[in-house]
Amino acid sequence: MKIDLFFTAEELRENILTDKTVIVIDVLRASVTIAQALYNGCKDIIPVESAERALDLMQKIGRQFVLLCGERDGQKVEGFDLGNSPFEYTEPVVRDKTLIFATTNGSKAIVKAASGDKVVIGSFVNFKEVAELVLNLNKDLAIVCSGKEGKFSLEDTVCGGMFINKLQEQKKADVNDAAQAAAVLYQKHKDNLLKVLETCDHGKFLSSLGFEKDLAFCSQLNSLPVLPILENGRIIKYTA
Ligand code: MLT
Repeated sequence: MKIDLFFTAEELRENILTDKTVIVIDVLRASVTIAQALYNGCKDIIPVESAERALDLMQKIGRQFVLLCGERDGQKVEGFDLGNSPFEYTEPVVRDKTLIFATTNGSKAIVKAASGDKVVIGSFVNFKEVAELVLNLNKDLAIVCSGKEGKFSLEDTVCGGMFINKLQEQKKADVNDAAQAAAVLYQKHKDNLLKVLETCDHGKFLSSLGFEKDLAFCSQLNSLPVLPILENGRIIKYTA
């Protein structure tokens, strides 16, 4: 198995994901919000690259058929139904709903990674489900960290390193330099994931906006047993 990690979605080039399993990671917070929405019974989630695109799509589908979701600078976009805090995505709010989802980095990375063979959305909260699927599929893997506005983010890389560590325990893997670096960072931080989220740039920014509770939620390993997978432009719950 070959494993390539990308520190940011901006590193992706045409055809680089063809025939690969892809894990897209946005630990703070898009991956977790997606997992929470599916866990709480939403029908599907359409990731889009911008709030403007979300509005266009909403007009095509019809306002009454969708929830408009996402953030700009960490806060709910004006006129949207929900922001990007997983706490907003409760069962009564999202059950059976189609969500159009636009966030600064996470939804954009998912759209960019759509050419993979199977594209799953991973984070600490659904680590076990995602790792098991990747092992069962037994194909070359690309781990796409969403990063922060084109730059490296510690929390996504540590999570990527956790996947690499787990997969290397089970399979002989040929890993790229970024994957090796991510595995080292995971080893350094594995005993205190919450501290990583509290001290990384985006975690500090979210805390400054009053979202400290989100950091604790996003640091909980295997708390949301759900497998979000991108199919035909929509994220749904994976069933084998
Ligand atoms: C993103 O996609 O950039 C993040 O999920 C931002 C956030 O924390 O809301």
